[in-house]
Amino acid sequence: MAAADPMTIRITGLTAEHAAEVLAIYQLGIEERNATFETAAPRWEAFDAAKLPDHRHVAVDHDGRVLGWVAATKVSDRRAYAGVVEHSVYVHPAARGRGAGLALLNALIVSTEAAGIWTIQSGIFPENTASLALHQRAGFRVIGTRERVGRHHGVWRDVVLIERRSPRIT
Ligand SMILES: CC(C)(COP(=O)(O)OP(=O)(O)OC[C@H]1O[C@@H](n2cnc3c(N)ncnc32)[C@H](O)[C@@H]1OP(=O)(O)O)[C@@H](O)C(=O)NCCC(=O)NCCS
Repeated sequence: MAAADPMTIRITGLTAEHAAEVLAIYQLGIEERNATFETAAPRWEAFDAAKLPDHRHVAVDHDGRVLGWVAATKVSDRRAYAGVVEHSVYVHPAARGRGAGLALLNALIVSTEAAGIWTIQSGIFPENTASLALHQRAGFRVIGTRERVGRHHGVWRDVVLIERRSPRIT
């Protein structure tokens, strides 16, 4: 992938037309082994069914190529948690460090706040310093660290829980 000019990043809705690129970027992130417990990207049908339609966005360059994506899922069917979602954000390795991740998180914050969603949460491996820094920059706070919460390729991993509570939804 050619380097992207930061000025050409555009955020738009993540739809089926982006499926192949989105899942390829997901797979590249998975293969780095510091993004998620998942070991393979899902099929589009499963991804599409899980991600909230109004809270999935892609960053594209001037040619419409996907640089990265963000998407959220419901965390619970309980009424008290109706405004709480969990998100994932992935940027193509060749497009990192140019503001796409931050633009995607900001788009998610805007779309969720507009829908009355008050908390966005996620879990990050402590080794994933880029993601921890990105989320801190976007206004997320660290809740704490879950110790050896799951096995990843046979190794117990810690997970740092993070959240952003919207100040606008009171
Ligand atoms: C984490 C990730 C999404 C960041 O995306 P990105 O487009 O490179 O991030 P941005 O360019 O928008 O960076 C925004 C801010 O995040 C921080 N940041 C991003 N990458 C960083 C790095 N490698 N080291 C330190 N800070 C970093 C910086 O504060 C940066 O702001 P600055 O450039 O003004 O200093 C990207 O590295 C990625 O896709 N990683 C693999 C998948 C993954 O781990 N996803 C998160 C799962 S929890």
